[in-house]
Amino acid sequence: MLQFEEEIESGGGNKLSGSHVPIKSDDDNQLNNVAYGPRDQNDVTASRVRLEDKRIINGKADVNQLVPFKYKWAWEKYLSGCANHWMPQEINMNRDIELWKDPKGLTEDERLIVKRNLGFFVTADSLAANNIVLGTYRHITAPECRQYLLRQAFEEAIHTHAYQYIVESLGLDESEIFNAYKEVDSIRAKDEFLIPFIETLTNPDFKTGTHESDQQLLKSLIVFACIMEGLFFYVGFVQILALGRQNKMTGAAEQYQYILRDESMHCNFGIDLINQLKLENPGLWTEALRKEVTALIKQGVELEYRYAEDTMPRGVLGLNAPQFKEYLRYVANRRCQQIGIDLIYEGAANPFPWMSEMMDLKKERNFFETRVIEYQTGGALNWE
Ligand SMILES: [Fe+2]
Ligand SMILES: [Fe+2]
Repeated sequence: MLQFEEEIESGGGNKLSGSHVPIKSDDDNQLNNVAYGPRDQNDVTASRVRLEDKRIINGKADVNQLVPFKYKWAWEKYLSGCANHWMPQEINMNRDIELWKDPKGLTEDERLIVKRNLGFFVTADSLAANNIVLGTYRHITAPECRQYLLRQAFEEAIHTHAYQYIVESLGLDESEIFNAYKEVDSIRAKDEFLIPFIETLTNPDFKTGTHESDQQLLKSLIVFACIMEGLFFYVGFVQILALGRQNKMTGAAEQYQYILRDESMHCNFGIDLINQLKLENPGLWTEALRKEVTALIKQGVELEYRYAEDTMPRGVLGLNAPQFKEYLRYVANRRCQQIGIDLIYEGAANPFPWMSEMMDLKKERNFFETRVIEYQTGGALNWE
């Protein structure tokens, strides 16, 4: 058996062709302690994988062996992710291009929304991909979850592709959009909030296996799933989908709708992962950590609200920044409920109930059939 960390250290598979004697590290609790060799009945890594040896983190079962399944919810999400496959260039952008080029096609406020949206998302999904590929993946020892994370990483690449494709289709100033995360304060503030948590997981010296490091991992997973994918994306999604509902930028809105569907699954997977991790390691979910997470969610709501104000300084599309304050509070409460912490904002209601229809819509629709119809008509989704 070859574990991930060993692959990295040995340059990939060197130990396969070497000794026939099991190679062990000093610490049997470490994951990277065995190469291929004769079976040892007392060595969990040399015997057949048993369900009880599979764990979300710090597992001892071979991460290369997908079955027997233990975490079926992760495998099912992997299958759903594949069933939802889409590519950005399959969506017709002609109407968007026409509208964008028409000086009277959109108001300045609507144009600002599109540019600020893309300014955040063109780099956000690269951050998300790096967090998965260079961070989370290494620390998760459940192969079903790794399988989903591989699918998720590809979906993040598709999202970055989609944003780039919209920028290119509309002929936007690429340097303005792609540098917005450095130059627009409200976007930079969101990224600066996230980066320390991403760096925890991507730091090559970071290893799970202690109470402190396992808590750090749990906290980073919560920030990623509940605040980044579960909160920081939502102002942008509402704005572009609201444009689509008014029959404007319908190609971009269709791309965002597919992205929203993917992201809602990423968020749900992350929450399942967090809750399973907590179940297996109840000692990690301390009062102090819950308080810390509550404070982080509050901070996330403030940052996302600043972004809402910055992207729509005046009311536009029947939307205004204060509605977003209520919406973000509603979404934050939902995240609290999903990971089992007390609600932060009593009585927050959803001012955009149509958003949940946006997420559910495609689940009931045969996606490939929809695409064929689009090719035939050159039209777009019905936004009503
Ligand atoms: Fe994404
Ligand atoms: Fe995502």
